[in-house]
Amino acid sequence: MSDRKQIALIGGDGVGREVVAVGRRVLEALARARGLPIELTDYDLGADRFLRDGVSFPEDVARALRERTDAVLLGALGDPRVPDMRHARDILFGLRFGLDLFANVRPVVCLHDRLMPLAGRTARDCRFVVFRENTEGAYVGAGGRIRQGTPDEIAITEIVQTRRGVERIVRAAFDYARARGLRRVHLADKHNAMPHAHGLWRDTFAEVARDYPDVGAEHMFMDALMCRVVLDPGAFEVIVTSNLLGDLLTDLGAALQGGMGMAASANLHPGRVSMFEPVHGSAPDLAGRDLANPFATVLSVGMMLTYLGWPDEEARLVGLVREGIELGRCTPDVGGSLGTRAVGDWLVEQLACA
Ligand code: IPM
Ligand code: MN
Repeated sequence: MSDRKQIALIGGDGVGREVVAVGRRVLEALARARGLPIELTDYDLGADRFLRDGVSFPEDVARALRERTDAVLLGALGDPRVPDMRHARDILFGLRFGLDLFANVRPVVCLHDRLMPLAGRTARDCRFVVFRENTEGAYVGAGGRIRQGTPDEIAITEIVQTRRGVERIVRAAFDYARARGLRRVHLADKHNAMPHAHGLWRDTFAEVARDYPDVGAEHMFMDALMCRVVLDPGAFEVIVTSNLLGDLLTDLGAALQGGMGMAASANLHPGRVSMFEPVHGSAPDLAGRDLANPFATVLSVGMMLTYLGWPDEEARLVGLVREGIELGRCTPDVGGSLGTRAVGDWLVEQLACA
């Protein structure tokens, strides 16, 4: 068995393939220039394969990822030829649920003043991280539709929270804050409207907070918190929240970082294979046009490298992305004029002169 770290690459659909191609080149460049012991394996998953042979997330791939992989880089899923998104859910949730990746860690860090959309604020005013619960909530698929297509139709989506599930993500958020000497963790929920599912969040958060007397514990309702995030993003360091609310908050967060092309994420189960993906989708309208911003993927690769034990390499990639923005070596969405591939060329050049 090789002692190199095993990294799986899944481009998926649309621009996902283009940005993961850049991620691959960055990883190869790091392996060459810095001797990182890694081995890359591509997995052909996505709409093309689903439409070709009906396979979305086969068991042999799931097993290979579980048993022989250290980290997965995922591009994006979603293709207009599969309007019900079945394959996308099978693959994305197959990874998140199947690998029990309970912590969706989404940094909301603005890397350059030019990207900051809020008047009177600078990049330094926006650096917090969202811990989004990733295996429960509104995403578990509990519910159904009956009397479909009739005026009496009923549709139910259940929100499912378990004490164990809430506790582990809340602890992950507090552990993160403590390890970095941060002052506070905010819980964002809607227990005013959803006293059962979100009452469990409120109670569990209060209990766990007692184990972290060195870290402040604050509560805000998510609607009020989103308002405050726009008015004063510097008020936040770590925000922990449920699956659906975290999904909504992190698109707003992406806007504060320069758009969807800048937002990175990690889907973690500490100690096990974990998955890293840009927050953006497959953007079918941009696909095949060499327009997609690869920086969210490069930053996600950075998070992967820290997870694998190489934080200096993440710092290097973050520095390069910041420099790319500064010098205009970037795609049009963040003020440059380069294509996706040319940004990749520039990154590889920079990494070669390590
Ligand atoms: C995300 C995406 C997914 C989610 C979609 C594609 C199901 O929006 O990763 O943020 O809601 O989790
Ligand atoms: Mn989303």
